[in-house]
Amino acid sequence: LVTAGGRGVLAGPAAQPVAVTPPDPVPVGMLAELTYRCPLQCFYCSNPVQTAGYRDELSPAQWLGVLDQAAALGVLQLHLSGGEPLLRRDLVDLVAHAGALGLYTNLITSGIPLAEGRMEALAEAGLSHVQLSVQDSDPASARHIAGLDAIERKRAAAARVRACGLPLTVNVVLHALNADRVLDIAAQAVALGASRLELAHTQFYGWGLRNRAALMPGAAQVERAAAQAVEVRRRWGDTLEIVYVQPDLHTRTPKPCMQGWGSRQLVVAPNGDVLPCLAAAQLPGMTVENVTTRSLADIWYRSTSFNRFRGTHWMPEPCQSCAMRDIDLGGCRCQAYQLTGDPAATDPVCSLSPDHDTIVDILAGTGPVPPLQPRRFP
Ligand code: SF4
Ligand code: FES
Repeated sequence: LVTAGGRGVLAGPAAQPVAVTPPDPVPVGMLAELTYRCPLQCFYCSNPVQTAGYRDELSPAQWLGVLDQAAALGVLQLHLSGGEPLLRRDLVDLVAHAGALGLYTNLITSGIPLAEGRMEALAEAGLSHVQLSVQDSDPASARHIAGLDAIERKRAAAARVRACGLPLTVNVVLHALNADRVLDIAAQAVALGASRLELAHTQFYGWGLRNRAALMPGAAQVERAAAQAVEVRRRWGDTLEIVYVQPDLHTRTPKPCMQGWGSRQLVVAPNGDVLPCLAAAQLPGMTVENVTTRSLADIWYRSTSFNRFRGTHWMPEPCQSCAMRDIDLGGCRCQAYQLTGDPAATDPVCSLSPDHDTIVDILAGTGPVPPLQPRRFP
């Protein structure tokens, strides 16, 4: 028997107490990508470019079972994402089920489509928080980025979120097309009634990676955006929680991606694939597990994929003997693969990486800039 705290004592047959330590770590958050369908076509989308295999989505009953397993595994925070999760007809049922399981449930949405009464039903079902994406403060640019005119519908969605008494985060992905308007974008978030604003530079995966050359801000633009973020804090920092995520390629310092591989979070794709991060399916040598054939707990604790880069044993030099290895966890495995072909390499963002020149070349921007490709999910 294991105590509720997760560590306890098992009474053996000879009344000899046997210390039991359940396996670590326990996942705190689960990103449930309910569908890759989406009415928007954002150039920076991190969804996979290869869509084969994702059209058959888990059924409502299967998702309910996934939520049961996640709660039993120790997950506390559920992020409902996509694509556009509002396109799932069973969304209210999923939120209600998550609420009954005691999960904090965050809806990550474009706000489109939002049928009459839907937000109210989600709030009633126990939704905890809404994160609304905004593409830009400039209407023409926002239309260009999203592939449709969405600002008015986003305003209406934000108003309904607030009317339901739900906390609202406005999330803005920054890149070359909008990074000069950080101040205006923040003013827009304030007008929408946000209590939290995320200004996050693009992470280059999926469609974002495909469009990297055109989306990559230059060093001067990044400096201007950072200065505007300081001004945003000065103007609204007392009333608005503000998160500014730097463009890691410009920082020479890798991000601790997912707070460590198989450490704090897991991702479930629309077809039930269970992944340590949203881009891991592309990695060579990955055995992608699926929740329809293996339990979530078994995948989390025992699968080859989740154990592959867990901890620090896999790290090459210079990470292995680096003072930062338990802080940045060697950076991002997917970025390492995308830039070097080796998912176990030191993230080239790191100035100590033997492959750091690849970042220098990317930022120099001397290569061709292919036309932007809108995200599609045919
Ligand atoms: Fe991080 Fe590795 Fe670079 Fe050290 S060498 S700072 S652990 S990525
Ligand atoms: Fe896969 Fe960073 S996105 S490890």
